[in-house]
Amino acid sequence: MDLGLRGKKAIVTGATKGIGRAIVDLLAAEGCDVALCARSEDEVEAAVREVKAAGVEVVGGAVNVRNADEYKAWLEKAAEELGGCDIFVPNVSAGGGMDSEKNWWKNFEIDVLHTVRGCETLMPQLEKSGHGSIVIISSTNALETFYVPMAYNAMKAALITYAKQLSQFVGKRNVRVNSVCPGPIYFEGGAWEMIKSTNAKMYEATLRAMPNGRFGGPDEVARVVAFLASPAASIVSGANVVADNGFTKRVQY
Ligand SMILES: NC(=O)c1ccc[n+]([C@@H]2O[C@H](COP(=O)([O-])OP(=O)(O)OC[C@H]3O[C@@H](n4cnc5c(N)ncnc54)[C@H](OP(=O)(O)O)[C@@H]3O)[C@@H](O)[C@H]2O)c1
Repeated sequence: MDLGLRGKKAIVTGATKGIGRAIVDLLAAEGCDVALCARSEDEVEAAVREVKAAGVEVVGGAVNVRNADEYKAWLEKAAEELGGCDIFVPNVSAGGGMDSEKNWWKNFEIDVLHTVRGCETLMPQLEKSGHGSIVIISSTNALETFYVPMAYNAMKAALITYAKQLSQFVGKRNVRVNSVCPGPIYFEGGAWEMIKSTNAKMYEATLRAMPNGRFGGPDEVARVVAFLASPAASIVSGANVVADNGFTKRVQY
């Protein structure tokens, strides 16, 4: 199946490693020009160099998405350098953590506001595209009870509601909006590698909850995101796609 991604312009936040990086690698392999950001300048430079091997335009930026002005300026510059924006994937998260007011602000500013600010800043470009597509990265932590109450879980839930309502609002301008809820995703340097060494009990319990006995990988999430982002998913808007290897146990109608 041709996803119709060749020549499309995509902006992905938090994409030097993990799921974001897998999304950028796949979109580039499918022929998209891509822009990526993260805080570490060295890692952004390395990622830009490596992704360029796919033969596409790659724009990088060392940006902290929590800094609204810096972040919005980078998005505008990235869209200008790419010559437009057809696809936006806000992927950065402040991550989980035991509850404190500090966590609530961090998850609100990073998970929620960086997504909202990004969608609002890039909307004129996405509208111009004619095939605009936003894929918001949420989490299965938003869908079922996950160990302890955390700001991360609640803010990821807010993103699903935002994605649905935004999809209704911008649909008439040919912009589709969907969200993806990855389950636990294991990769070197990722949160689950850390949990494996610091909290073996939690790691083993999580692994046991996977019907096929393994964690998902970033590349598996990236394939779901690439499909939703692509013109091949022209009929899919306002959906929340669970990509969790069977981790969640609710019936999803
Ligand atoms: N991994 C999982 O099991 C899992 C499961 C469900 C959902 N998710 C969601 O999937 C998304 C990606 O998760 P991941 O595990 O792949 O993340 P990750 O390994 O923590 O990677 C995060 C990326 O974002 C960048 N980043 C972090 N904070 C940033 C900031 N304030 N400004 C700009 N860039 C920033 C990081 O680079 P720098 O550190 O250099 O900034 C890195 O490139 C997140 O939304 C996460 O909640 C993950």
